[in-house]
Amino acid sequence: MRLYIDSANVEQIRRLNEYFPITGVTTNPSILVKENRPFLEQLKEIREVIGEEKELFVQLLGETAEEMVDEARFITREVPGKIIVKIPVTEEGLKAIKMLVIENIPTLATTIYTPFQALMAAMAGAKYVAPYVNRIDNLTGNGVKVVAEIAKLFSTYQLPAEIVAASFKNVQQVHDVCLAGAQSVTAGPDLIEKFIAFPATATDVSVFKKEWQKAYGVDRIN
Ligand code: E4P
Repeated sequence: MRLYIDSANVEQIRRLNEYFPITGVTTNPSILVKENRPFLEQLKEIREVIGEEKELFVQLLGETAEEMVDEARFITREVPGKIIVKIPVTEEGLKAIKMLVIENIPTLATTIYTPFQALMAAMAGAKYVAPYVNRIDNLTGNGVKVVAEIAKLFSTYQLPAEIVAASFKNVQQVHDVCLAGAQSVTAGPDLIEKFIAFPATATDVSVFKKEWQKAYGVDRIN
């Protein structure tokens, strides 16, 4: 399983990258504008924090495939390291994905609500697809089922595309998509912190320390 941070906040990324097994950072336009700063400066600072080897995802905004390809060339030229461009699954988006395959610029097909959107994107050559689990649930769909069906389709047709499940509101959804076959998930900093937060763990650690202290008079090994 690979874990991405869904945020453009440099301090949160720095902190999580220090403690958690992070593969990279995903952004979208809503996430970037929240930082109130020129987006290129923000992306370059994120790159400095995570290093050149980790993937950094940037969403394109062009309306036509040609505009998206221009944006993809621009962003991969301006921001160093491994950039993956995020492209919404529309007709123009699919065309852009096919054009970017030829240019060797990796893509993630985003804003996915149905298994067939993911299938078309994978057949067009997307490296990743991002089903929006919680947004699907909010539409009285079943986000986890969509992820499971995408995984089944990719396996049936032996497509190399991988699932980066996105849009979560709780840890249970993340747990369920991992079991449903998602290779990766992207989650916001607050949710990632909840992956390991469990009150009984803190209680156990404190009891171990107290017993050690009582027996040996110190609370460390050395
Ligand atoms: C990630 O790539 C998506 O843009 C993001 O996960 C959407 O999450 P939200 O539904 O919480 O906004």
